[in-house]
Amino acid sequence: MRACVADDASKLARIVGDFPILRERTVRGRRLVYLDSAATSQKPQCVIDALVTYYSTYNANIHRGVYEIAARATDAFEDARAKVARFVNANPRDLVWTRNTTEAINLVAHSWGGANIKPGDVILVTQLEHHSNLVPWQELAAKTGARLAYVPVDDRGLHVLDDLDDLLDGVKLVALSHVSNTLGTIAPLDVIVPRAHAAGAVVLVDGAQAAPNMPVDVKALDVDFYAFSGHKMCAPTGIGALYGKRALLEAMPPFLTGGDMIRTVTYEGATFNDLPWKFEAGTSNIAGAIGFGAAVEYLSQIGMEWVREHERSLASYAFERLRELEPRGLVVYGPRDPDLVADVISFNYADIHPHDLASILDGEGVCIRAGHHCTMPLMEKMGWPATARASFYIYNTKQDVDALIDALGKAAAIFKIGRAGVAGALDG
Ligand code: ALA
Repeated sequence: MRACVADDASKLARIVGDFPILRERTVRGRRLVYLDSAATSQKPQCVIDALVTYYSTYNANIHRGVYEIAARATDAFEDARAKVARFVNANPRDLVWTRNTTEAINLVAHSWGGANIKPGDVILVTQLEHHSNLVPWQELAAKTGARLAYVPVDDRGLHVLDDLDDLLDGVKLVALSHVSNTLGTIAPLDVIVPRAHAAGAVVLVDGAQAAPNMPVDVKALDVDFYAFSGHKMCAPTGIGALYGKRALLEAMPPFLTGGDMIRTVTYEGATFNDLPWKFEAGTSNIAGAIGFGAAVEYLSQIGMEWVREHERSLASYAFERLRELEPRGLVVYGPRDPDLVADVISFNYADIHPHDLASILDGEGVCIRAGHHCTMPLMEKMGWPATARASFYIYNTKQDVDALIDALGKAAAIFKIGRAGVAGALDG
């Protein structure tokens, strides 16, 4: 039987209690209702403690010092790598620390792309992509004389795969998000990945919005590269990871060069370190990596199946409650089906600008994001100048959804939204 929010009330209360900001913080005297975890999640006490312990008891650089605290820092850093690798079912040697998903994708674009993409090659992306999984490929195409092609999405933001085999013809690389940060759409990787491989393409998946919200097994998905960020999954900002298949990573030239990524250096040249350090030039975000390790340990204790079911349940409740406002002009975008979306719901309310909506909601203690969500081409294709976006995570409750609906009611009153969603036609 599926877990649901109501059945898990005590587990949920314990989770909320793990987050000091949710326990203690108020906004203008109101409870903080945080519905912007797709931008960045809140951090549990255990992650904060991991950072404080590192900085206050064994702060030292890694892979260099022979003294005790340096050895402890190196062990904690590599132990965190093992935890994050295990979280996505990867071997630690195949998991490179990066600053975030964006840097991980840029690493592949520069290193693998620079060595493999030639004039006339095709890079296939989708119309849903975040700028992070679009601009690096546009730049690579401009530099190499390759071209981009797009898997279309329909009006609900679902991938249209009717012409997939034609689109894949001659494609060198497929780069797509596992979950759309704007619409929550979950990509049908089980269909796309095998067909991309059959066509001879390498597949990179932007997992920034998926790894925090559902079980991810890079081996079962059979992806070639999987990029994700710590900060959307309880870890600090400034730390992310790139998984890559060993043979691809081995063959790739370094991305950045300098200290720690070398084996030997002479005045004439250098040889490079083993994986994964070959891709980790300079002093890493040691505290961030240790915090990421603590974060995935915390999420694993909660259980990623539970996380997915909790968010599915919340999305289902939110769709139901938002539907009540549809006669007044509220429009929900995306697949509007909890089985097809992850943690994100995008919407607009009558003719209230999303930024005004977000400001009014802020007055009620409700945090949402408004704007183009780093997906300007998708906004243009859909004809939306901007949207409001609520996103849910492990600590959100049905009461948070109710607070969102109440705050939207306040916005409707301020803008005098009437029954037909027309400003100035308030009908009580
Ligand atoms: N990519 C993040 C978001 O979707 C920042 O809000």
